[in-house]
Amino acid sequence: MNSKKAAAEKAAEYVRDHMVVGLGTGSTSYWAIQKLGAKVKDGLNIRAVATSVSSENLAKELGIPLIPISEIEQIDITIDGADEVDGEWNLIKGGGGALLREKIIASFSKELMIIVDESKQVNRLGKFHLPVEIVRFGNEITLKQLRTLGCDPKIRIVDHKPFITDNGNYIADCDFGTIERPGQLHNAINMIPGVVENGLFIKMATKVIVGFEDGSVKEI
Ligand code: A5P
Repeated sequence: MNSKKAAAEKAAEYVRDHMVVGLGTGSTSYWAIQKLGAKVKDGLNIRAVATSVSSENLAKELGIPLIPISEIEQIDITIDGADEVDGEWNLIKGGGGALLREKIIASFSKELMIIVDESKQVNRLGKFHLPVEIVRFGNEITLKQLRTLGCDPKIRIVDHKPFITDNGNYIADCDFGTIERPGQLHNAINMIPGVVENGLFIKMATKVIVGFEDGSVKEI
């Protein structure tokens, strides 16, 4: 069994009737949305909010009721993937470019359940280059300022063109090497004017579910 699917299906078990559910983005969240879609067909009564256009489209296809963000009083649980998880549950996210919407939704969720395969667990963050969402205007200046924090930022290119986020921005993928102080780095990056948000999620996760190739899962 696919390890991502195993973690995702375990997380879906925590979703109960009448919950408002945040839908993550990426290949692991895909399986969680599929499972929730199946449960909705079987009568599960939830309302959802998506962290990207692609997850929103998938939810619509599967018949998961979506609510406008303006109507949300509280998000009960968000299920989302990650690119790296350290021992303190700090995360790097944004490999799929959805980090801004993911962080907005996560920040308003009572529970942020992170679903990963075992390859995403690390002692220290940083092997995965940190995605930083930056505005297009003056991006050359923003990159220079990111460089002063000790990284080598590269505008993400997909199909020979700069990747544009759902919010119309660029992603700079930043190689900081091992990140010794993720909280400090998070704050320093977000102080740069052209930065919209970065992919460090500091102490936001409330549960981590790790899936393994044999279909087993570990909840931490
Ligand atoms: C999307 O922008 C990301 O934050 C994803 O949650 C993260 O990249 C994990 O993606 P996969 O589940 O595809 O590995």
